[in-house]
Amino acid sequence: MPEANESPRDLVLEVSHLSTVFESERGGIPAVRDVSFTIKPGQTLGLVGKSGCGKTVTGLSVLRLINPPGRITAEKIFFRSNNLAALSESEMRRVRGRGIAMIFQEPKSSLNPLMKIGSQMIEGMRVHLGLSRAAAWTRGLELLEEVGFPEPSRLMNAYPHQLSGGMRQRVLIAVALSCRPQLLIADEPTTSLDVTLQGRVLGLLHRLKEEHHLSILMISHDLGVIAQVADRVAVMHAGRTVEEGAVDEILLRAQHPATQELLVAAKDFYSDDPRAPRG
Ligand SMILES: Nc1ncnc2c1ncn2[C@@H]1O[C@H](COP(=O)(O)OP(=O)(O)OP(=O)(O)O)[C@@H](O)[C@H]1O
Ligand SMILES: [Mg+2]
Repeated sequence: MPEANESPRDLVLEVSHLSTVFESERGGIPAVRDVSFTIKPGQTLGLVGKSGCGKTVTGLSVLRLINPPGRITAEKIFFRSNNLAALSESEMRRVRGRGIAMIFQEPKSSLNPLMKIGSQMIEGMRVHLGLSRAAAWTRGLELLEEVGFPEPSRLMNAYPHQLSGGMRQRVLIAVALSCRPQLLIADEPTTSLDVTLQGRVLGLLHRLKEEHHLSILMISHDLGVIAQVADRVAVMHAGRTVEEGAVDEILLRAQHPATQELLVAAKDFYSDDPRAPRG
């Protein structure tokens, strides 16, 4: 495998010079412009920026989930030693199933309203891990317990509409972790939740990251949220990353006006230190 040497082994994800353009009658509209970043094992990178700056499109581009008229170009999108740009669609489906899990921004659209939670929990494990129904069910119960449901068997028989937003979000986290991914892309996983639940879900992600040595690409418009979970931060503005560094560096020595604006917005929510836990 000649590619193996091209991506350093200590990186889970290496994205370099990623651009995504949506073609239209009036020409191409660039959503992501020449973005580069890396994520190490066990590391959380926060991708932060205001609405429309290209965070979701960046996450979807990594997983090649952009449909025409969208077009992705990149020098490198490496997941460990795999060049994602060079994989076939069926190989890419395996990566999406097992290697990289994504929690999508719109939680309601991510759970099938017609299927019980149990069936949705075990589906991926049966397809991607080859588990029997019984084995997948048992692991499903364990995962739901891990994300904070004391009575997981009742939940397995519930439908999504019977759950609150916070419960649905925790189910989605359990589903995302069910095939033991190495990388989790979490797109605004707490935005729809109230402040108390936000704190709980962020705490959960932090614990899961420690226990599973998971790498996370955490997407949020809220620097306060990012500051609580990320090791490093990349700030996006108008499709570009304008600033990147360790969380403390960004919080204390923000250079770019876009970052300063996000800091001010975060401070509206935290009267003092944006790193202080909320809730
Ligand atoms: N399918 C699409 N077709 C055309 N333009 C798109 C499409 N998806 C996204 N865009 C455009 O790409 C830009 C980036 O969108 P994106 O959804 O990545 O922003 P975001 O940073 O995730 O914003 P938010 O914080 O609101 O979720 C926006 O200008 C958006 O309108
Ligand atoms: Mg988005």
